[in-house]
Amino acid sequence: KPRQDNPLYALLEQAAAFYRQQLRHHPKKERAVSYLKQRGLTGQIAKRYDIGFAPPGWDNLMGHLTTDSTEVKALIEAGLVVENPDSGKRYDRFRDRIIFPIRDSRGRTLGFGGRVLGDDKPKYLNSPETPVYHKGQELYGLYEARQANRQLDDVLVVEGYMDVIALAQHGVTNAVATLGTATSEEHLKRLFRIVNAVVFCFDGDRAGVQAAWRALNACLPVMEDGRHVRFLFLPDGQDPDSLIRSEGQDAFRARMVQQAQPLTDYLFRHLAEEANPDSLEGKAHLATLALPLIEQVPGSMLRRLLRQQLEKLTGMDLDTVPRQPTPTVGYE
Ligand code: GTP
Ligand code: MN
Ligand code: MN
Ligand code: MN
Ligand code: MN
Repeated sequence: KPRQDNPLYALLEQAAAFYRQQLRHHPKKERAVSYLKQRGLTGQIAKRYDIGFAPPGWDNLMGHLTTDSTEVKALIEAGLVVENPDSGKRYDRFRDRIIFPIRDSRGRTLGFGGRVLGDDKPKYLNSPETPVYHKGQELYGLYEARQANRQLDDVLVVEGYMDVIALAQHGVTNAVATLGTATSEEHLKRLFRIVNAVVFCFDGDRAGVQAAWRALNACLPVMEDGRHVRFLFLPDGQDPDSLIRSEGQDAFRARMVQQAQPLTDYLFRHLAEEANPDSLEGKAHLATLALPLIEQVPGSMLRRLLRQQLEKLTGMDLDTVPRQPTPTVGYE
């Protein structure tokens, strides 16, 4: 069946409309509205991202959208309703949460994220993988970024819903989020079809630093000449949301200009932490770590420059190093 004919799209759209409606009219909407205000969001930005509210209760959405038993099956398939495998009980996945619709680049709703209004756990719930929602491919906010910019020159990749939305609230309208999943080659291929520059800006915590290195590894196989990737590391404990709220758009942009490091700088800086090239042993270790990464780069100019840089760091002529280490053979 062609993807666009999938009836789940219509169902997900109805669900988005329901959540949006609840944020405006539900008797308990005030808590949700004041939560969003407290996080610095205006009604205008909430509208642009189509933010909604799943009210407390087990079957608000189900009750609203179901007309017969087959539709509950569809709601389950869409990830909106959960069926307990033991009891067979069915209930709304999203309850008493702020709702963020996840759209594809054409604006179709694929799924949702839901945030608790306080400090309960889990903080976020996301739609599961469904026939229409594939986490490893979709980027939250890409549709909205394209709507807000006639021409996108670069895209800022952040971790979370609130990072994307807070940045947009402060005038940085080109951010997208990977939503807790690792940046994939698929994500990057999608982005590089639209822009030739990507800036990663993950949280200033351990998870953010790890996500950045993983993102670098996902970038290497798509680094054609002409593509630019940079990494902006944030101060400890900050994320793009908290930072732009405290320092404002201009300082945030200045930070990007002054502090974002090119992928290649980050690559060598990170590897030099792992293998200090001050000794011959360190140089050998560095070359061992760096070569397999460099060889993944498809851009032949960039690959050559990276090899040159590695030669500078190690003092070694890499042309004499076999491209792929030949397996060790015994003497017998
Ligand atoms: P706020 O507290 O609302 O500012 O969230 P955050 O986006 O700063 O959260 P955090 O940095 O902890 O996590 C980054 C992203 O990972 C979130 O936006 C979510 O997409 C995802 N995430 C965080 N916590 C959870 C969780 O408990 N469950 C799931 N499934 N995803 C989560
Ligand atoms: Mn974090
Ligand atoms: Mn965060
Ligand atoms: Mn945050
Ligand atoms: Mn090591």
